[in-house]
Amino acid sequence: MKEFLIETFAHHRTLIVFLHIISAVIWVGGMVAIRFAVHQSLAQIADPKQRLERAAHTLKRFFTIVWPFVLVLITTAVLMSVGLGFRAAAMDASGNVINDYAMSLYKTIHIKEAIWLLMSLNLAAMMFRRRKAEIALREGNLAVAKEMLGLISKYMVPVNIVLGVIAIFIGVVLRNAY
Ligand code: HEM
Repeated sequence: MKEFLIETFAHHRTLIVFLHIISAVIWVGGMVAIRFAVHQSLAQIADPKQRLERAAHTLKRFFTIVWPFVLVLITTAVLMSVGLGFRAAAMDASGNVINDYAMSLYKTIHIKEAIWLLMSLNLAAMMFRRRKAEIALREGNLAVAKEMLGLISKYMVPVNIVLGVIAIFIGVVLRNAY
């Protein structure tokens, strides 16, 4: 398996890094557009029911577009972290540290993995809340729909934007570290 990942990365390096970056652009850039452009525009709709329906629909479209890229991001991340040999440079076969600098880079890879996991769990929770809002709207329960969607725009999307920007910064650090 490891050999397969190393071979695949060696043969398709440019494509894999490109897919990693474009996935990050679509995920993080999409969230910035939703939070700072679409959200402000939707807020101008006077009728609360219509406003919440538009918000739920916009998020549905966005989440449908974004989740495949979340999978591309983790697939390319695994290929890059194995293909670039971060573990092999840091440890020997029995797990002893052989190079402190390489070890610090390997730990940085784990930080990115943790960020991806947090962002994905947050995305899954947002998809769940959006679905609940849609059901509440169908039942005419505006208060529940507002509660479900409010948290998404107030905290959940901003948290993922911050995490995404940190992951991008760490990506740049890793790229320039070897
Ligand atoms: C499983 C988690 C992740 C791992 C293991 C990982 C690993 C890496 C590695 C090794 C690089 C350097 C590539 C190279 O040197 O050619 C990189 C670059 C990059 N990563 Fe990640 N990454 C992960 C998640 C993420 C996430 C969640 C984002 C943003 C949402 C992201 C955005 C980027 C970007 C934009 C670059 C390019 C930086 C540049 O070209 O200067 N990564 N990543």
